[in-house]
Amino acid sequence: SGRKIIVTSGPTHEPIDPVRYIANRSSGKQGHAIAAALAKLGADVRLVSGPVAIPDPLGVTVTHVDTARQMLAAVEALLPADAAVMVAAVADWRTETAAGEKIKKQPGKGAPVLPMTENPDILANVGHHAMRPQLVIGFAAETERVVEQAKKKLQTKRCDWIVANDVSPATGTFGGDNNLVHLISAAGVEDWPKLSKREVAERLAASGAEDSGGTAERFDVMAGVPTSRFPGGTLLRWPGLVAGMLFYSLRDRIG
Ligand code: CTP
Repeated sequence: SGRKIIVTSGPTHEPIDPVRYIANRSSGKQGHAIAAALAKLGADVRLVSGPVAIPDPLGVTVTHVDTARQMLAAVEALLPADAAVMVAAVADWRTETAAGEKIKKQPGKGAPVLPMTENPDILANVGHHAMRPQLVIGFAAETERVVEQAKKKLQTKRCDWIVANDVSPATGTFGGDNNLVHLISAAGVEDWPKLSKREVAERLAASGAEDSGGTAERFDVMAGVPTSRFPGGTLLRWPGLVAGMLFYSLRDRIG
């Protein structure tokens, strides 16, 4: 408890002109629920939220931003921290420039072409940061091959856990109150039952963010699961054990 934890939540809005923007479908419900659950456990939670229609969670310090670049700057300004949970649905692209005035229709000339450029990846930045928090948790929003694609993100974004969720329209995840997730770490994959977003948040918070004692326990539990449950077999088991041991020794040193 008392540990400083950064949480990102909600979408980002990337302006095209003063009246239009590019965004992702995200209500902020899951990220805000995680911030609230961590605060309830006594953590010092710093929420960086994109534009959402829900209130700030109780007991949480909130920075409100619009764009991905603003979100990255706000997150970096909060480092160092003990843990980071990146739940925001960040827009991957923005237009190269935002028009200063409303772009008008031009009869006979067709639709405008908007050159796009990539936004910074906030989770990958934090995962590779010189001040990387001890525990970095990302989300993965997928519509197909959910676990397989989420595993790739675990590596490329250098995080400890990925919470993979299926956001295909039939699941009703975006904007809805429930979530079906898989918790992925070096040790393997845990399939969680369908839960409310609040229950997912509480389970995740209890899993490790409160203090490293919880984390060590979680890693230990995952490392101890028979390898037959993991598609990757034995290879997956050893990184889990190593991670578990690492956490135990880190915990002892940090106290
Ligand atoms: N993320 C981020 N910054 C971005 C894009 C994503 O911090 N510019 C974070 C999200 O908060 C989430 C994780 O990265 O924790 C995965 O996001 P997701 O949208 O699933 O994946 P992308 O990296 O955008 O990859 P793709 O769109 O190809 O699936």
